[in-house]
Amino acid sequence: MTAKLIKGTEIREQILEEIASEVAQIKGKHGVVPGLVTILIGENPASVSYVTLKIKTAHRLGFKEVQDSQPENISEEDLLALIDKYNNDESINGILVQLPLPKHIDEKKVLNAIDPDKDVDGFHPVNVGRLMIGGDEVKFPPCTPAGIQEMIVRAGVETSGAEVVVVGRSNIVGKPIANMMLQKGEGANSTVTVVHTRTKDLADHCKRADILIVAAGVPGLVKPEWIKPGACVIDVGVNRVGEKVSEKTGKTIAILRGDVDFDEAKQIAGSITPVPGGVGPMTITMLMLNTMKSLKYKLGEN
Ligand code: GUN
Repeated sequence: MTAKLIKGTEIREQILEEIASEVAQIKGKHGVVPGLVTILIGENPASVSYVTLKIKTAHRLGFKEVQDSQPENISEEDLLALIDKYNNDESINGILVQLPLPKHIDEKKVLNAIDPDKDVDGFHPVNVGRLMIGGDEVKFPPCTPAGIQEMIVRAGVETSGAEVVVVGRSNIVGKPIANMMLQKGEGANSTVTVVHTRTKDLADHCKRADILIVAAGVPGLVKPEWIKPGACVIDVGVNRVGEKVSEKTGKTIAILRGDVDFDEAKQIAGSITPVPGGVGPMTITMLMLNTMKSLKYKLGEN
């Protein structure tokens, strides 16, 4: 049996349509649209391509979108002043500072400077705390974990009482998705185990998983024999393992590989996300959703 493919590209289109129609409604009723600023420091090629896509998507949805590109050598003080400017800009509902930052800038200071009510990445400690409490407290779930949960729900996978194993303990994916899956509520109520580089018997834990979420950043880490037959496998890894020339455009593009051996895993899993085209497209989609939510909170529409 071959696993059902959970395609982020398709789910993205459904959600973007839902957002676009809400944007039109809000605009009609209140005369305003969501405003998103993305702050890009330097010219890291991966960051440039992510930010370009974020801005393009915001534009497509009818948001006000601002791309604020700053040189690699911007001082920490100037960056903090820039964030403060957008904190005080009424037309901006979401502020995103693309990570990673240059070494001379303290990431913690930068993330803490963003107004928690405009922190659409969900990285500010206030929003991390709200996520931990769960329920109505949550304002901005971080985008990649929110996308993962949305995919699991829309794929019709039962989460209540399911054994969820999360591979990886990053602040951006592993820790928040583990926390989200154990909360009370739809798409959650799971029994969660988090495994990481110091875990003994990684394979044994994975073999128990009804839902296996892999965010380790190690290409091909999860072997097919680690997958329980019929399990839902979410591969968050987007590893650049080489380059090739695109047949369509003639441009050089990255060869991407996930953390799971996809071709063999799909013979065992019940459902699985591809790389690319799985979790990746969901992150930007959830960023758009958070930005719209931010405006709705402000308007008292939630
Ligand atoms: N760099 C890689 N992923 C992300 C993300 O989700 N948000 C931000 N701000 N930077 C990133």
